[in-house]
Amino acid sequence: MLKNKRILLGISGGIAAYKTPELVRLFKKSGAEVQVVCTPSALQFVTLKTLSVVSERPALVDFFDEETGSWNHHVNLGLWADAMVIAPCGSNTLSKIVSGQCDNLLLTTYLSARCPVWVAPAMDLDMYMHPSVQEHLQTIQNRGLHLIDAEIGPLASGLEGKGRMAEPEHIVQALNQFFEVPNNGWKNKKVLVTAGPTFEAIDPVRFIGNRSSGLMGIEIVKALSEKGAEVHLVMGPSSLPVPEGIETVHVESAQEMLEACQTLFPKCDVGIFSAAVSDYRVEEVHLEKVKKTNENWTLNLIKNPDILKTLSLTRLPHQKCIGFALETHNSEEYAKRKLEEKQLDAIVLNEVGENSGFQSKNNSVKIFTKNNQQFASDVRSKCDIANILLEKLDDWKILE
Ligand code: C5P
Repeated sequence: MLKNKRILLGISGGIAAYKTPELVRLFKKSGAEVQVVCTPSALQFVTLKTLSVVSERPALVDFFDEETGSWNHHVNLGLWADAMVIAPCGSNTLSKIVSGQCDNLLLTTYLSARCPVWVAPAMDLDMYMHPSVQEHLQTIQNRGLHLIDAEIGPLASGLEGKGRMAEPEHIVQALNQFFEVPNNGWKNKKVLVTAGPTFEAIDPVRFIGNRSSGLMGIEIVKALSEKGAEVHLVMGPSSLPVPEGIETVHVESAQEMLEACQTLFPKCDVGIFSAAVSDYRVEEVHLEKVKKTNENWTLNLIKNPDILKTLSLTRLPHQKCIGFALETHNSEEYAKRKLEEKQLDAIVLNEVGENSGFQSKNNSVKIFTKNNQQFASDVRSKCDIANILLEKLDDWKILE
């Protein structure tokens, strides 16, 4: 659940800070990235070196790094994070959070953060029960911060009671619960996605390609990831960045895409083939640039392998194949024919229009399944279309 999540860990001064290297270790073990920001007084209880080593990033305390001259920008840190955890949060830091003071890097970062924030208070039992602390804890919760309540046990003062920082395991558990993906048919499924165009070389500088941007495939990858699927992306040449944390194989030609898919598909449960694969490639690829002459130039094109059909016809019984079709006329008839010929579980027909299709942020689709279910969408963002597609396939029990 915390895989690839970016966690800002704010550490304030208090004896419980000695537990934070363990907290960092647990976050890292869950697959999260951790950036530590300490208040100056936290360093009386734990060292920057220890925190930097366990987090594998320089732990920060100052706005300005005297050694490197770099500026630790609290706004960037605040925007970077998916979650901020302030643990331990002593009474001083708690009251400054409430009043909006920002006399250290932790507090300014907190004020800049747009992500959800968790606070794990730690203080002696009488301090903890003090009305001002209790009011502050109520205030931060009213503002939407998440409280990871202090626990009962022996305290540094020798007294016993409520005030200990929640155990690192409990803090990790609180975040895990928050980020847990609700149950759905895609959760934990291994899904291969192809996306983007393919380029078929003519010579070292020229190629045959198509106008696919790869955006539809990328939105499908993001939606799958949010639904808890394990995604393997095979991406043709596209200028779009691939979503972070997604295992991606970059390819150029249809042949390379086929090879990557043949390696990955055997370990997947579902394949979603959204790539606009070039149907033909040049028979003779020139190793050097072909010089211009006064004559015309005829290229002989030969058929590329049909990746989807190849994999679909040889798949294991539990594996599902979803194809795409892009047509300009007789669209439904052609799409349904492909569904049958390639023995797919479902096909997504892209409607080519002014406001949808290739190189557009929007799309409108019709979905047909082998069980004769069908659905037609409006023109929606490709992000919406990706979510609609996944939900429909899940509702129709195509994944079972
Ligand atoms: O037959 P057509 O090219 O229209 O089929 C489109 C579907 O087949 C898409 O899902 C596309 O990714 C896939 N395809 C493929 N390999 C090809 C051609 C198309 O995987 N060579």
